[in-house]
Amino acid sequence: MYVVTCATGRTGASVARLLLEAGRKIRVVVRKNDAAERFRARGAEAALADYADVPAMTEALRGATVAYVIPPPLPVTESGHHAYRVERTRTLAAAIRAAGVPRIVSLSSFAAQHPDGTGMIKSCHTCERILDEESGAIVTHLRPAFFLENWAAQLPAVRDGVLPSFLGPIDRKFTMVGTADIASVATRLLLEPANDRRIVQLAGADEYSVGDLAATFARLLGRHVEPMVLPIETMADELTARGFSRDTATNYQELFGGMMTGHVALDASLPIQRGTLGLAYSLGVMLAAS
Ligand SMILES: NC(=O)c1ccc[n+]([C@@H]2O[C@H](COP(=O)([O-])OP(=O)(O)OC[C@H]3O[C@@H](n4cnc5c(N)ncnc54)[C@H](OP(=O)(O)O)[C@@H]3O)[C@@H](O)[C@H]2O)c1
Repeated sequence: MYVVTCATGRTGASVARLLLEAGRKIRVVVRKNDAAERFRARGAEAALADYADVPAMTEALRGATVAYVIPPPLPVTESGHHAYRVERTRTLAAAIRAAGVPRIVSLSSFAAQHPDGTGMIKSCHTCERILDEESGAIVTHLRPAFFLENWAAQLPAVRDGVLPSFLGPIDRKFTMVGTADIASVATRLLLEPANDRRIVQLAGADEYSVGDLAATFARLLGRHVEPMVLPIETMADELTARGFSRDTATNYQELFGGMMTGHVALDASLPIQRGTLGLAYSLGVMLAAS
């Protein structure tokens, strides 16, 4: 039995779909009844549980030969992101141990090798250790690069012909990957056996600059899109004005600032796999969904 948690999220939904398409028996773990019903209609088992509820999560995970998990994110309007993720990962680890799940694939992040200076993803370092030390399972930590889907927040501006970016300068390449590539690698990792802890780092098919993104959006939309680099020092204020909590906004500024200095990046001392889907694929899916 393959158990997929966070199955309403971007990667979890795709992992569940790919496993179903591969003819595997799956159980999704979701938090709302309507989501459970949608998955049941597609032939999956579905359990209702929140990571915070150890007895419910233990039941939801019981019988799993392998499970897909994510130290979960908090909505950007709320504060206390790191504490939330660490607490929820701790209760998740307790449930994995209680259910006797032998193996998990956990979505971690680029730069999880660093304990700090990584902003939004700082808790990934601690969450990896919690899962390693407290879950009793063999853990594969999937560390993807910056999601291409983060650019979805800029789609209204892009449709008006501007791509605002706190990453720059315009021709500097960054490592980014789409969630379709992440889900397909996560699914492969769930399907293939593993006897030891592993770290799998995933970059996109290529490296991309803000100029590349703007040019690709322009091609897909059939109109000029001008890349516009904004000063990173203004990012936290800008995000706060858009409704992010101050805590989350500050974490985002540290994350992006770290990407600019090179501190927030995949670990160059470890192997890096590449996805196969190009920039146009991910941006095209984003535009079609918006
Ligand atoms: N954005 C990036 O550039 C980037 C890069 C590297 C790694 N990552 C990692 O990717 C993760 C997000 O993955 P994603 O995009 O697949 O997810 P997502 O689309 O952000 O969805 C989050 C999922 O977590 C579930 N969830 C939240 N709190 C939960 C809880 N307490 N108990 C059970 N489920 C809970 C949500 O369920 P509901 O639908 O019920 O709310 C939802 O299914 C982040 O945590 C981040 O660390 C992101």
